[in-house]
Amino acid sequence: MRVTSRGFADSVEKDVIINSIDSYHIRLAVQNPLSSPCDISLLFKPIDQSANLAQAKQHARNVARKLGVTHGLIFLAGEPTVNWRDSDQSRPFRQRRYFYYLSGVDEADCSLTYDISLDLLTLYIPDFDLHQAIWMGPTLTREEAQDRYDVDRVLYSSSLKPELATWLSVRVQNSLIYMVHQSDSPEGLSFELPIDSKQLIPAIDTARGVKDEYEIRMIRQANKISDLAHRKILQQISKMSNESEIEGSFLDTCISHGAHNQAYQIIAAAGSNAAVLHYSQNNQTLHSKPLVCLDAGAEWSCYASDVTRTFPLTGQWPDTYTRDVYRIVERMQEQCIKSIRKGTRFLSLHNLAHDIAIDGLMTLGVLRGSHSEIRVSGASKVFFPHGLGHHVGLEVHDVSGKSIMAYSSIEDAHYEPVISPVCRSPCTLSAALLEEGMVVTVEPGLYFSPLALANARKQPYAKYINFNIAAKYVPMGGVRIEDDILVTANGYENLTTAPKGEAMLAIIRGSE
Ligand code: GLY
Ligand code: MN
Ligand code: MN
Repeated sequence: MRVTSRGFADSVEKDVIINSIDSYHIRLAVQNPLSSPCDISLLFKPIDQSANLAQAKQHARNVARKLGVTHGLIFLAGEPTVNWRDSDQSRPFRQRRYFYYLSGVDEADCSLTYDISLDLLTLYIPDFDLHQAIWMGPTLTREEAQDRYDVDRVLYSSSLKPELATWLSVRVQNSLIYMVHQSDSPEGLSFELPIDSKQLIPAIDTARGVKDEYEIRMIRQANKISDLAHRKILQQISKMSNESEIEGSFLDTCISHGAHNQAYQIIAAAGSNAAVLHYSQNNQTLHSKPLVCLDAGAEWSCYASDVTRTFPLTGQWPDTYTRDVYRIVERMQEQCIKSIRKGTRFLSLHNLAHDIAIDGLMTLGVLRGSHSEIRVSGASKVFFPHGLGHHVGLEVHDVSGKSIMAYSSIEDAHYEPVISPVCRSPCTLSAALLEEGMVVTVEPGLYFSPLALANARKQPYAKYINFNIAAKYVPMGGVRIEDDILVTANGYENLTTAPKGEAMLAIIRGSE
């Protein structure tokens, strides 16, 4: 709905637009930029632009809601320009995700404030610097930034300190300034800020766990490009001779389609290298390797895709070992994806995947004994050592209020890690339930790592493993299949479209 009203003072024309994505978010478009920081009702963008903008303002409001306060200031510093040590060359720029979430700004040396009671989101951009402009090109002007981003006002960074001083002098008593870290506080202030650095991370993490329409569009686009890149490799794999060509081809397709960054380091692992979960050398021959495990995902507007495909070099599995393991992992993935819906405990799907793995490995003779004893012993973790999945968003392993698949780590202060008695997987029993709008990977895998097997020989569960049979699978390394799944109102949508299974083999054969 679009309502236009005219006749305001100073002949400023104002378009009042009710955003269909967010019916309680009213936006006003103005022709004359206004300078008063408190005149916020006149500083919004028209809907046609906002549809293509990261919903920074909405994110800021959401975070304030999660903070549960009505007063205070959120302050976030973006990523600065940093040179390599002892070098005049800058490190590749990667925006700080907390800052991006509340600004949609993928530029260096910026910061922002969000005044919670005024509902005022302010972006601070670098002041004009002649030297910088001549060598690197000019940074954005205030007008350009105002046009490009979903913020209420844009100021130059030189205004930050006076603005903070003003906020401090007029603030409601006891209101705090929320930061990710105490050390984020701007340097050289002549006054002390009432900083809270405990509550902002959990608040943003909780907000980020559920994606809005814009974010889902970005993840979908990242997946589209990953699809093209995976497809191209399937078409060419039979002519490739080294893992490095796979990596090169993936980058070529992504960059050629405007995705200049990868969401994570490409894993192009042939044969036994596939057993190394985060293999990154990508420089070994493909000659006589039974399969390739390619875990590679493009990034789009700072949003990740995370996609793994495992395939043979010709259009058919070279032996029963690779074929059988692929089919078990395929079953693990299909069953788990089918069970995705809001309210589901992701941990239960992880356990389901272990159950299918145990049945499959028992059929192959790799595991022996009773299913329930094997399950409790943890023996299946030798072959499926990682979690079933994780959130995907601004980070490939994205944050959330409560982890769906929590790893025990000292840094992780938001929950108490508990080792599941069911399969001794690295999860918590308090793992959160899936909610509509979450995007999670479902990425089961089975691996035959000589190191993991050697270690397993020394464990109580060794009696459940037939090591002679397991050794026959070592040359294939392992199989992983990974898709990004959106939890919807009625079930799920698979955002990953890269071919897998029979469709994938047909492309390698050239008979799609
Ligand atoms: N690509 C990293 C992962 O699958 O988690
Ligand atoms: Mn993943
Ligand atoms: Mn992955």
